[in-house]
Amino acid sequence: MPERFSPSLQQKIEDRLRYYEDLGIQLFYKDRSANGGAAESEEATAPVAACSRSAVFEEPALPKSMPKAAPVKLAASLPPIVAPPAGPSLFEEKVADDTLPKIREDLGDCTRCKLHKGRNKLVFGDGNPKARLVFVGEGPGADEDMQGLPFVGRAGKLLTQMIVAMGLERRDVYICNVVKCRPPQNRAPEPDEVETCSPYLLRQIDVIHPKVIVCLGAVAAKTLLNTTRGISNFRGEWLDWRGYKLMATYHPAYLLRNPPAKADVWKDLQKVMAELGLALPKKSKS
Ligand code: URA
Repeated sequence: MPERFSPSLQQKIEDRLRYYEDLGIQLFYKDRSANGGAAESEEATAPVAACSRSAVFEEPALPKSMPKAAPVKLAASLPPIVAPPAGPSLFEEKVADDTLPKIREDLGDCTRCKLHKGRNKLVFGDGNPKARLVFVGEGPGADEDMQGLPFVGRAGKLLTQMIVAMGLERRDVYICNVVKCRPPQNRAPEPDEVETCSPYLLRQIDVIHPKVIVCLGAVAAKTLLNTTRGISNFRGEWLDWRGYKLMATYHPAYLLRNPPAKADVWKDLQKVMAELGLALPKKSKS
């Protein structure tokens, strides 16, 4: 959005457009998914309610007359998904006897990147320090910045519903982000910010040592996998990441804007459930 509005007016306009967008009215704006499809203003702070699988993932049937999409040809030049580079890099950093409190202490009142300037609260991460499942998002939005907790806004509410649909509770899993401070105007984090902050994420993951990591959205997936490939090329696939089983899926904020994609995410999460030995939903007889 152009800079000619005051920040508060700009925020109000963005919120209103997002409201229309969530209603399915898409005439007013260009594609905001350019920022990773995830960063968003999280205005809702209502407590998160548990809800049934069907209520979270049910989609209206697609009209029968939908034209068939042409098969997408992958360019031969797409780089493969590679593990982070070997050798001395931030990804290799290991801290002896590391713990989550130690990582939080090391972050301190962080001023290592420019994101600290607009920060209200640093959002470290939340959940079970011994979780078998870690969700990695992009970065805090407005609500997270206010509360100092990850995924507590509208997208967070949906994530919580997804976790409940898996037969878990938020306190069973660990939730964190690639960057720990809110990017201004909810833009995607910039490469220098990701580079500065991600070593702390990696330390968190290594301390928790989960069985499964789920990357929510392109920023998390591209950061951990060190790839520029679009997330839809590898979404829902099991990948090996430094010895962990990793799966990338769409970000809940993207699902708020594109509800039909919930079906894909539910498929992905069922693979995660199977891996974790969680009870899968019974197949309906047809
Ligand atoms: N989106 C994210 O990626 N992370 C949050 O914590 C909230 C919204």
